[in-house]
Amino acid sequence: MSRITRQEQQARFWDLLSAVERTGMDKLIEWLNKTDYFTAPASSKHHGDYEGGLLEHSLNVYDEFNRLRSAYPEYPVSEETAVIITLFHDLCKVNFYATEKRNRKNADGQWEQYDFYTIKEKFCYGGHGSKSVFLLQNFIQLTPEEAVAINCHMGAWDGNKDVGNAYEHYPVAWMLHVADEAATFLTESEATRSDGETV
Ligand SMILES: [Fe+2]
Ligand SMILES: [Fe+2]
Repeated sequence: MSRITRQEQQARFWDLLSAVERTGMDKLIEWLNKTDYFTAPASSKHHGDYEGGLLEHSLNVYDEFNRLRSAYPEYPVSEETAVIITLFHDLCKVNFYATEKRNRKNADGQWEQYDFYTIKEKFCYGGHGSKSVFLLQNFIQLTPEEAVAINCHMGAWDGNKDVGNAYEHYPVAWMLHVADEAATFLTESEATRSDGETV
């Protein structure tokens, strides 16, 4: 699977966002441009643990979500909702990571410094999906299904015992959860990726 450049990812992001006409998007975009959304990693040491990893992951989730939309046409999802919940499900990771210098031996046995991502939370909300919902709702009004989908996108990974009920009532929430896992464990997995390219 070939990967597109970071510039192409950003162009794709803006293109997708043009489908969203919700009140407050201008304020959300103004805020986004002041954050590290476009340069942040998706994690500190797992999937997308490199500059731009969060944007790449968000686009991958959009793609996986679209595959599920095609597989389950009986559960229609508007393009606006698809874009909002996929591109912003991990908004909680904005202004969340920092880099620090660490030492390691290179292939020649020489010590070298490298940048290592660490978590340096600047807004300790106390939740993952819930924090993304809160940040989004500072700017735009989410529909109930969008809020549930983003809040429950981690499934049982973050100890949410009511997630099954949420998925039964809001199939789009289950679809976002599965899309997030597919992007993380399939598309972005070092174990299954074979292209070896970096962006
Ligand atoms: Fe997440
Ligand atoms: Fe995610």
